[in-house]
Amino acid sequence: MSVRETISFQLNGRPVTLSVPITMDSLTMLRDELKMTGTKYGCGEGECGACTILVDGVSVNACLMFAVDCDGRDVTTIEGLHKGSMSRLQELFVEEGAVQCGFCTPGMIMQATSLLRQQPEMTVDQIRRGIEGNLCRCTGYKKIVDAITAAVHENAVVEEGDA
Ligand code: FES
Ligand code: FES
Repeated sequence: MSVRETISFQLNGRPVTLSVPITMDSLTMLRDELKMTGTKYGCGEGECGACTILVDGVSVNACLMFAVDCDGRDVTTIEGLHKGSMSRLQELFVEEGAVQCGFCTPGMIMQATSLLRQQPEMTVDQIRRGIEGNLCRCTGYKKIVDAITAAVHENAVVEEGDA
């Protein structure tokens, strides 16, 4: 029988408490235990960025983080950016044609949100470097970079809660 631990943390602004196996990763906890299926499983090895979430406002690959390490933290998934309607950054992804199959999109949006909060005045080169860990098989990245660039121009993500 696997050893379990009870953890409590903020998930998309709401408190959650649950028991998890100490070997479980955060991605499995979010998708299977908490039904936050917007966060995607791509590689399970930290190579694709599909599982990107924010932990205390910083982007993290959920597949590489133990679920127990969420204890006491502030965790945001793509569902947490939708406050009755899409965030402006999400709208810009749609407007710029940056979403094709959509598999990479939640992770890309979370990574971009983290980048925009840390560095609102990013250049195109800084945007390209910032999303290097997020793979997209469909778009060739240009439209994704265009969408994030538009967000920079609009100052669309200024602080926690405004995404
Ligand atoms: S599933 Fe986590 S980086 Fe690919
Ligand atoms: S839109 Fe298909 S993987 Fe990025």
